[in-house]
Amino acid sequence: MKLIRVRDYGELSSEAFRVMQQALSSERPVLGLATGSSPIGLYKKMIADHNSAGTSYDQVLTWNLDEYVGLPKQADQSYWTFMHENLFLGIEIPEKNVHLPSGEAADLAAECARYEASLQQVQIDLQVLGIGVNGHIGFNEPGTSFDSQTHIVQLTEQTRQDNKRFFGGELDRVPTQAITMGIADIMRARKILLLVSGENKAAALQQVMQGEVSEQCPATILQRHENVIIIADEAACSRL
Ligand code: F6R
Repeated sequence: MKLIRVRDYGELSSEAFRVMQQALSSERPVLGLATGSSPIGLYKKMIADHNSAGTSYDQVLTWNLDEYVGLPKQADQSYWTFMHENLFLGIEIPEKNVHLPSGEAADLAAECARYEASLQQVQIDLQVLGIGVNGHIGFNEPGTSFDSQTHIVQLTEQTRQDNKRFFGGELDRVPTQAITMGIADIMRARKILLLVSGENKAAALQQVMQGEVSEQCPATILQRHENVIIIADEAACSRL
């Protein structure tokens, strides 16, 4: 794992954009994408670059990590909406190129199988990740098997508390389940880019860098991947 230490979130986003530009320079790039606060600065830079330099996303394919169960995709807080508002509309990527699991499918097991089958058709060139305070990646909460593929998860109290900021601060409105790529899926990516910002992520980053590999802290599995770049700001590095 290569750790790039930066001062703050602005620098983190600039460094992340450099890594993204490399991935975009290949012929038909396949990106794995995350939602949440961590990649928003990177996505802003991708949109600015699309507008100023004309970078085209016509040949780019994307797969997202996860989606809430029970929210219609058009709901304000769905990850489908998040991705369209924060990236897809801005970079004018064709809708047929983007893939997200559907959290409103009537048969969730079938939806997991469908999404997994679509993932198995490709290899992700660059997987963008954030990390949960409890070490989750995607919505793979502590205790998830390292062999897991796309599956339904019960969100932990901690994760729902952390994410209630996107639901007007109301915990009751945060879904209790999500559909997520598994850890084995994430580990199949050629390259992984983990973005870590803020004091509240310091303990999780310490585990990733210095802890033992354990399903109790899912992100520690990244120690076993041969091509991981971690970009972390000063606050996140405060325990290293
Ligand atoms: C998002 C995802 C999550 C987040 C993590 C960190 O698609 O899969 O693992 O990356 O919860 O979230 P933020 O970046 O909001 O701190």
